[in-house]
Amino acid sequence: MLIERENAIANLTVAANQLNNGNGNIALVSGEAGIGKTSLLEEIKRTLDQQYEILWSGCDPLFTPRPFGPLYDFAANFSEKVHHLLENGAPPSTIFSAFHDALENATQPIIVSVTLTAPIFA
Ligand SMILES: Nc1ncnc2c1ncn2[C@@H]1O[C@H](COP(=O)(O)OP(=O)(O)OP(=O)(O)O)[C@@H](O)[C@H]1O
Ligand SMILES: [Mg+2]
Repeated sequence: MLIERENAIANLTVAANQLNNGNGNIALVSGEAGIGKTSLLEEIKRTLDQQYEILWSGCDPLFTPRPFGPLYDFAANFSEKVHHLLENGAPPSTIFSAFHDALENATQPIIVSVTLTAPIFA
């Protein structure tokens, strides 16, 4: 149970439901470390899981980031073609183009969720 997140949940739900009109949407959830960004997205995922296909991934702040990490996560269940291109070292433009095509040709609205950690420069 999340405290004081009713407005954020309502806003994200409205943004998700607008996908049914055939329009894309971008929602940015930002805030300081530990404020509850991931928890909010997980709550939204729980409530919308039945209605939408949700592609879920994160870009971890690793010293050696995984190239195309989120696309690997998405492709596993979403697009054999994208998975194939990733595995065979296709150029980035080809991979992103195939992912875009897969989203555009999907028969139901897709929600893509990526958690990011911004680097801190001291
Ligand atoms: N609205 C809330 N009510 C109660 N507890 C919360 C709420 N939001 C987050 N928490 C708790 O706060 C902690 C941190 O939440 P969370 O990991 O979602 O933050 P975050 O913003 O994603 O952190 P980070 O910036 O490190 O990714 C978790 O233990 C979570 O259960
Ligand atoms: Mg988080």
